[in-house]
Amino acid sequence: MPSIASIPQILELPKILDERGNLSFLESQVHVPFKIKRCYWIYDVPGGEFRGSHAFKEQHELIIALSGSFDAVIHDGVTEKRFSLSRSYYGLYLPPLSWRQLDNFSTNSLALVLSSHFYDEEDYVWDFEDFLRVKQK
Ligand code: TYD
Repeated sequence: MPSIASIPQILELPKILDERGNLSFLESQVHVPFKIKRCYWIYDVPGGEFRGSHAFKEQHELIIALSGSFDAVIHDGVTEKRFSLSRSYYGLYLPPLSWRQLDNFSTNSLALVLSSHFYDEEDYVWDFEDFLRVKQK
C-alpha cells in the first residue's frame, strides 16, 4: 500500500488502451492510499453551481471526473490551488483537513468521490475560519 501522502495531489490511475475502448480501474489500498469504505457521485449539477466548501477532519478522499469536467479548489491552510479534472484516469487525492470546493461543472459531468470513511456529519468542518484555526494547531 502506498504511504499516505500528506498533500493534495493528482494520482494517475491504470489505463488499458484498447481499440474496443479504454478501461481504467483502481483497487483499495493499492492505487488509492486508503481503504475505501464509501463512494458517492455528483451529477446533474446546474450551470454555475458549486458543491462542497468544507473540509473533513478524518476522512481521505479521491475525486475522479468520470465524465465531463469540473474544478476542485483546494486550500491546505496556507495556499489555494485549482485542479481541473477532465480525465477519468486521474484522481485528485485529498488528505484529511483539505478545504475543498467543486465548481465549474460542465454539462453532463459526473464526479465520483471515494472516501475512507462512512458518512458522518460530525466529520465536516463547515466554517473556513474554524478550518484555518485547526490547521494552525
Ligand atoms: P454534502 O456532503 O453536503 O454535499 P456537498 O459537499 O457535495 O455539497 O451532502 C449533501 C447531502 O447528502 C447532505 O444532506 C448529506 C447527504 N449525504 C449522505 O447522506 N451520504 C453521503 O455519503 C454524502 C456524501 C452526503
